[in-house]
Amino acid sequence: MIGVGAFGRNHARVYQQLQQAGRVRLVGVVDPNMARADAMAREFSCKAFGSVEQMLTTHSGVQAASVAVPTVLHLEVARTLMEAGVDVLIEKPVAATLGEADELLRVAAEHNRVAQVGHLERFNPAVRATLPLINRPMFFEVHRLSVFSPRALDVDVVLDLMIHDLDVVLTFVKSEVKEIRAVGLPVLSGKVDIANVRLEFESGCVANFTASRVSTERVRKLRFFQAGQYISIDYGRQDVLVFSVGGAAGNAVGSAAEMASEPSVNPQIQMAKPAITAEEPLLAEIKAFLQSVRERSRPVVSLEDGRRALELGLAILEEIGRHAGRIGVGRG
Ligand SMILES: NC(=O)c1ccc[n+]([C@@H]2O[C@H](COP(=O)([O-])OP(=O)(O)OC[C@H]3O[C@@H](n4cnc5c(N)ncnc54)[C@H](O)[C@@H]3O)[C@@H](O)[C@H]2O)c1
Repeated sequence: MIGVGAFGRNHARVYQQLQQAGRVRLVGVVDPNMARADAMAREFSCKAFGSVEQMLTTHSGVQAASVAVPTVLHLEVARTLMEAGVDVLIEKPVAATLGEADELLRVAAEHNRVAQVGHLERFNPAVRATLPLINRPMFFEVHRLSVFSPRALDVDVVLDLMIHDLDVVLTFVKSEVKEIRAVGLPVLSGKVDIANVRLEFESGCVANFTASRVSTERVRKLRFFQAGQYISIDYGRQDVLVFSVGGAAGNAVGSAAEMASEPSVNPQIQMAKPAITAEEPLLAEIKAFLQSVRERSRPVVSLEDGRRALELGLAILEEIGRHAGRIGVGRG
C-alpha cells in the first residue's frame, strides 16, 4: 500500500481484511512519513518502508499495489511501480494533468500492466444496481455536499469530489459532452470549494451537478429522469428508488421480480426498490482490481475512464475560470 495518509489507511485496512480471507498477502505499507508508516505497519501487521524503491529492492515478489499519494505524485509513483512489473490501483483523480494521464497510459501499455483508477462510486452497490435499469437518461440532478475538513486542498472541489459524479454520469449517458456551463467559488481553501455545473450532451441529455466541501450537511445523491421513469440514488445509504409511469418499470427493469414494489400515493406511478446487498465500495473496488490482476483482464475503471473524467473536470475548471473573469470574481 503506497501512501498511508487519510485515504490510504482505508486501502491498507481492506487489504488486511482480504488477507484474513486468504486471497492476498499484504506485504507492507510505504510512506516517507516513517512514523506514520510504522504506525500503519503495526496496525495492519505488515512491514513499513520509507520509499517505493526500498520496498522493491527488499521484496521483488510484489505483484500489485494501491497508490494513494497526493495526486501530483500519482504519475511518478505509479510509473516506478509499473516499470518494476507491479500492477496498480491509482486513486482518483488519475493525475493532475492530461499529459500525466497520457504518460500513465503509455507506461501501462509498454509494460503490459493492469492499471485501475479509484473511482469508488462505480462499486457502490446502488450504482451497480442502477446500471441494468438505464435506457435513455435525459436529465440528471446531482448533489455531493460535505462539511469542511482540511484535506485534499491541493485540488479544487471539482477534481476532489465532483469527479466521482462526472465519472458515474459519463458511464450512464454514453454520449459526448456538447456544452459546459459552470460557476465556482473559493470559500475557505483558496481553491474552488463550491461549484455548480450544467453539462449538455450530444444526445440532448442535460446534467446539473453541485459539489461543495464547505456545506453544513453531508449529501450524496444522484437523481435522473428517463423515458417513463425517475430514478433516485442515495450513495451514502446505498439505496435506489425507481418511480415508473405507465408500465415503464416492467419494460426497463426486466427483473421486476427482484424489485420490492411499494404502494404509491398516485396510482399511475409505481415505486420500486431494487434488491441491494450492502457492501463497502472500497472492498468491492479492491476485489475487482485483484480479479483483473489475476485474470489479466481490463479493469472495471480503466486508465482511459480516469483520463476521460479528468479531461471533463479540467474543462469544467477552465469554464469556471472564464465565468469568474466575466463577472469579475477571482478564482483564488
Ligand atoms: N476515492 C476516494 O473517495 C478518495 C478519498 C480521499 C482521497 N482520495 C485520493 O487519495 C489520494 C491521497 O489522498 P489523502 O487524502 O489520503 O492524502 P494525504 O495527504 O492524507 O495522504 C497522502 C500520503 O502519501 C504520502 N506520500 C507522499 N509522497 C509519497 C511517496 N512518494 N511514496 C509514498 N507515500 C507518499 C504522504 O506522506 C501521506 O501520508 C489523493 O489522490 C486523493 O484524491 C480518494
